[in-house]
Amino acid sequence: MCGIVAYTGCKEAYPILIKGLKRLEYRGYDSAGVSLAQNGTLSTYKQKGSVDQLDEFCMSKDRSGKTGIGHTRWATHGEPSTTNAHPHLSSDGRISIIHNGIIENYVYLREELTKRGYQFQSETDTEVLAHLIEDIYKNEGCSLEEAVRIALKNVVGAYALAILSADEPDQLILAKKGSPLLIGIGNNEYFIGSDGSPIVEYTRKVVYLEDGDVAVVSPQKGLTIKNIDDETTKRPYLQKLELNLEQLEKGGFEHFMLKEIFEQPRAIKDSMRGRLNVKKDIVELGGIREYEQKMLNARRIIIVACGTSWHAGTVGEYLFESIVRIPVEVEYASEFRYRNPLIYEDDIVIAISQSGETADTIAAVELAKSKGATVIGICNVVSSTLARITHAGSYTHAGPEIGVASTKAFTAQVTVLTLMALSLGRKKGTIPLSEYHKIISHLELIPQQVEETLKLNDDIKAIAKFFVEKRNAIYLGRGINFPVALEGALKLKEISYIHAEGYPSAEMKHGPIALIDEEMPVVVLATEQDTYEKTVSNIDEVISRKGRIISIVTKGDSVVKNKSTYCIEIPETLEILTPLLSCVPLQLLAYHVAVLRGCNVDKPRNLAKSVSVE
Ligand code: F6R
Repeated sequence: MCGIVAYTGCKEAYPILIKGLKRLEYRGYDSAGVSLAQNGTLSTYKQKGSVDQLDEFCMSKDRSGKTGIGHTRWATHGEPSTTNAHPHLSSDGRISIIHNGIIENYVYLREELTKRGYQFQSETDTEVLAHLIEDIYKNEGCSLEEAVRIALKNVVGAYALAILSADEPDQLILAKKGSPLLIGIGNNEYFIGSDGSPIVEYTRKVVYLEDGDVAVVSPQKGLTIKNIDDETTKRPYLQKLELNLEQLEKGGFEHFMLKEIFEQPRAIKDSMRGRLNVKKDIVELGGIREYEQKMLNARRIIIVACGTSWHAGTVGEYLFESIVRIPVEVEYASEFRYRNPLIYEDDIVIAISQSGETADTIAAVELAKSKGATVIGICNVVSSTLARITHAGSYTHAGPEIGVASTKAFTAQVTVLTLMALSLGRKKGTIPLSEYHKIISHLELIPQQVEETLKLNDDIKAIAKFFVEKRNAIYLGRGINFPVALEGALKLKEISYIHAEGYPSAEMKHGPIALIDEEMPVVVLATEQDTYEKTVSNIDEVISRKGRIISIVTKGDSVVKNKSTYCIEIPETLEILTPLLSCVPLQLLAYHVAVLRGCNVDKPRNLAKSVSVE
């Protein structure tokens, strides 16, 4: 949510900033802007819209300067516009600031600064910081770095900040609380990013700033890090950036989303690598080994997550309850954190997040930790906030997910949850050995079966035509495929803007059936064996109200297939593993519908990847 890039060194900053902004655009694409330090002044260029629009606008401008900052915005305070675009300037135009996060007490600060004569150009919360820092810098006679630290003591909220000043044009000041910020260390040069994507082609040596850090970087003076409240200098902790450049490219696919859907066999395999060995009869997640006993003794497990990760968590509920026989509660992180939940010291909280930066999930984790619970993370982005604040955890090795709609992260999360449940169930003795062996040998086949499912791409593209003019859709699933129905509906609505709802199949009679008519496509997941007849009855109920069935069935099915307007057959697996296959056609369906409707698949309106604000 908002992308930050900055550079200081011996190269021209502009090309580095623009390239970085293009990589970060998935974090927000309402507007973009840059500031460059040039001969004792700052030049700031901003545009509503994409980074390409900004780049085009800058073509006729002076783009020189060896220190600069750039920002791509997901609007929170103030509509998407050039005026509200970052960077924001101090009133004398000598301090420029970019920000990711939310300044919660900005109304108060704005009032106070207005009383002191400052005039505001934008509706943003960020602009108060530019004036506040300027006010302290001018009146306290301190260095800019000190002014930043004093200012931040008066700020309530979350931020990653990069600050450029005309007075010290070879230096950047950076600060972090709640939102991510990395410093890439080159040869007398520094590359700053909200994530590693704008940094990786220049250096792999990075420092992840911690909450409360204020850093100063300059080619002459190097890097120093202090705490907002504490003058003492902290030793930077150098880490290796784990990211490949190819992973950040589309690799011949039209969209990142399609590429990521097609990467799922590899992503699932990588999430199982070194953790599942069927021949040696091993299911082991090294990252949680130390806490496994605690997990086995837990009275209950609480899963916290948002969006697609919450859907994966809901699949996890079915997995854990059936395999480990521990009660599981799946909570929206945003609800959990604000309702004074009952959390006990022997609770295990599993937090799931692709980005590892989702503000509500992070806050839920902090809350659970403060009550003494053990928190296990499942996340995709290495060294993200979630990875750093949880007691232990397992990475999903899905690789960078750039498409705003989450796809491969979901299947990788479900894979890790399945492994976790199997490992615990085996140790707890809650799963018969024969059943355990059956599941692991079927699990091993999943990447290959996803590959097979992806071959249905052209058939699904043809089915997508049926949805193009529709305004609504219903997704039905039962048991472990109910969360998949929710996920399928979310995928369709977020990228094609067709209203879609997911329901447990049997719930349809309790209300949603009133919506069924000849215009309503009803996508039914009908792969489960135990309740197959019930699902067939639900399908009949839809058909008798003239609804049109698009079914996902197990290969060889004829009963549901014959009742369906369109039918997608997926390979046979155990019911407990079907989400890993059944979600794939739903991702492809949403993708093709959105493309046919002319929607911007990778950058759906109003959305951004990594929701690092509440
Ligand atoms: C939907 C989607 C979102 C995210 C949600 C949580 O396609 O991408 O619903 O799943 O914002 O994000 P993470 O997993 O990064 O915490």
